[in-house]
Amino acid sequence: MSTEEQGYFTEENSAEVVVSRNANAQNARLAEVIGILTRHLHAAVKEIEPTQEEWMQAILFLTETGHMCNDWRQEFILLSDVLGVSMLVDAINNRKPTGASESTVLGPFHVEDAPELPMGSNICLDQKGEPMLVKGRILSTGGHPIDQAKIDVWQANDEGFYDVQQKGIQPDFNLRGVFRTGPDGSYHFKGVKPKYYPIPADGPVGKMLESLGRHPYRPAHLHYILEADDFEPLITHIFDPDDPYIHSDAVFGVKESLLARFEWVEDVTRIAENGMDGPYYEVVHDFVLVPKGT
Ligand code: BEZ
Ligand code: FE
Repeated sequence: MSTEEQGYFTEENSAEVVVSRNANAQNARLAEVIGILTRHLHAAVKEIEPTQEEWMQAILFLTETGHMCNDWRQEFILLSDVLGVSMLVDAINNRKPTGASESTVLGPFHVEDAPELPMGSNICLDQKGEPMLVKGRILSTGGHPIDQAKIDVWQANDEGFYDVQQKGIQPDFNLRGVFRTGPDGSYHFKGVKPKYYPIPADGPVGKMLESLGRHPYRPAHLHYILEADDFEPLITHIFDPDDPYIHSDAVFGVKESLLARFEWVEDVTRIAENGMDGPYYEVVHDFVLVPKGT
């Protein structure tokens, strides 16, 4: 028998027999990944001891997950999100030095071609919702302001929907914008206070959450992609710490360092100083980027 022929399959040696069959793999990384997956999968099956019916239920669940996918709906990513795997892969690939802003999931609602707007613009195009001013600085881990940092921001509206989910109801590019910092690294823009919302729950992943007694909600947040020459890009959010779902995000995206205070401001001097028309929520949050090669 050659190395890839390790005898007949038994319940006891199942994983080793299957893994050894890959001994002549041309792609060493693929063989490593499939080997690890095979061992863990066989261990799980041995622990679960599924009935034939249960195994078929699992196959049908994955089949339905695949059928749910199209150009704008990726049910497998959603499955990875609710199992915490997206956040785990994000954590492994974005280990940061102390003081750097932390990353979180991208999510499915980013669009590539949002308009670049003058600093201070209002990204809310339909005047719906409670006014919000977001401001802060983009800094390096050394504490220096970053000039020409690109800030790509997007958020759900006051009812918890992104523009792309409500075509014809919300204006195109509502609550999205791209801003560029100047030499002082500061940014500010207007929006509306976001609201919690459910992840798309009308497919097999939603059904699975329901069967597990889990809700599909994400706490209110603003999404950011930050990019600057010579710095590692950062994909992240800031979250409302007072949101009812802040401790139970359906996709595990919340981190302590990403909590930002949404302060209700009624003081007329501050309203005037900040160019707002009346009471508003103020959110102040600095982001710290890591120089490339650190
Ligand atoms: C989002 O925040 O846009 C999101 C993230 C993961 C799954 C669904 C939505
Ligand atoms: Fe979101």
